[in-house]
Amino acid sequence: MSNLHDHYHLLIRGGTVIDGTKAPRFNADVGIVDGFIAAVGDLSFATADQTLDATDRMVAPGFIDSHTHDDQAVLSQAAMPFKISQGVTTVVTGNCGVSAAPLRADMDLPMPLNLIDAPAEGRFTTFAAYLDALRATPSSVNVAAMVGHSTLRGLIMSELDRPANPTEIAAMRMHVEEAMAAGAIGMSTGTFYAAAAEATTDEIIEVGRPLTARGALYVTHMRDEADKILEAMEESFAIGRALEVPVVLSHHKAMHAPNFGQTKITLPLIEKTMKHQCVSLDCYPYTAGSTMIRADGGMLGGRVLIASSEPHPECAGRDLAEIAKEWSVSKEEAALTLQPGTAIYFMMDEDDVQRVLAFDETMIGSDGIPLGDKPHPRLWGTFPRVLGHYSRDIGLFPLETAVWKMTGLTARNFGLHGRGTLQVGQHADIVIFDAATIRDAANYATPTEPAEGIDTVIVNGTVTWQHGMHSGARSGQVITRQDKVAA
Ligand code: ZN
Ligand code: CU
Repeated sequence: MSNLHDHYHLLIRGGTVIDGTKAPRFNADVGIVDGFIAAVGDLSFATADQTLDATDRMVAPGFIDSHTHDDQAVLSQAAMPFKISQGVTTVVTGNCGVSAAPLRADMDLPMPLNLIDAPAEGRFTTFAAYLDALRATPSSVNVAAMVGHSTLRGLIMSELDRPANPTEIAAMRMHVEEAMAAGAIGMSTGTFYAAAAEATTDEIIEVGRPLTARGALYVTHMRDEADKILEAMEESFAIGRALEVPVVLSHHKAMHAPNFGQTKITLPLIEKTMKHQCVSLDCYPYTAGSTMIRADGGMLGGRVLIASSEPHPECAGRDLAEIAKEWSVSKEEAALTLQPGTAIYFMMDEDDVQRVLAFDETMIGSDGIPLGDKPHPRLWGTFPRVLGHYSRDIGLFPLETAVWKMTGLTARNFGLHGRGTLQVGQHADIVIFDAATIRDAANYATPTEPAEGIDTVIVNGTVTWQHGMHSGARSGQVITRQDKVAA
């Protein structure tokens, strides 16, 4: 309780604050001036331009989506309803080795670079140009962007099914340097995908050299999340040690039935490694994953739902096995015919999902893919699902912990200065929700339903979502590395 003014631009009265530090909730009013939190406490004496009544509601820091593929969506779908409606005020882009910059207009986007729908016209040849475009036409959410190693391979290399040679490595490194200078917060890899599967550990280290001086992050969709997951983790840790930078293991999981239960081994390994190296992880609260339509047997073992298909848009929302039967072909052949597109793969065990979610250091990241009408429901439902289903309904952890996993913890791990906690001096990114009713309404059949129980979402002091309606506000900012260095 400090810095008490008499007048605020925005005043949230009568709510219960969950401040994003994992501390117990407390009753307080929140006063906002010029986009920043100016006071937290008893402000019953104060006046305001705009007052929100938060009686019987939780007032929390805006959620930070640690893992998104919203690189292009923050420009092409700038209102970002699928994120704002669930209380997300900041997205981290550039994951899984894929980013919206740098690209060339004449470049084909091989799988998975087409995860983000970058139109040939208006592509960004530098990272600075991408961030400048976001500043010129802001989104409704804040953006912290990373550069993708697979995108750099696509830009520089003539064929992707081999390791990069020294000339190519030097060229990619120059682009990483450019991205870092422009304000990228890190570099991601996706050696799981063919576009980078032949990249060696050394290639990644040498391309990532510019991360070191800036203490930027190394974020990875690992080479393997199935039977070779432990080797893949060791490789990720080794890259972090070689570059002396923090490592984030994306969407941590154990894939395919023979590996169910592996998280009993992977989580203790992460815990042990954290003692001598900066490591963190995130996950999404579902047993199905989603990515490009793949035709390899490994991915087609379980149930597969088609989320989008360029040649066959009518197949969105349908089961691959059914489509294959109708066409009298194998699932592999049907998948090839449906490419390019995205699909949902049921490939995890609920016990593993809960074990990873409940692990103290796990952040929440949606991994949503903002393409088509039948996306994985995580695009619209991730955060309310953790707060409603996992925290309240099954009691996996207290609400304070759930909020921390999507705010304070994430801001700390990603170096997002001035965000993630509801404290005086922080940017006024705030979500007001009803702890009794919050729930994800999106499911596999109706995946684009907005969540229930989110009252109001405020981005940099501006009300952006209220009672199920977008206000039209586009007050998102670009969060750069420099902000942190300057702080
Ligand atoms: Zn990924
Ligand atoms: Cu991803």
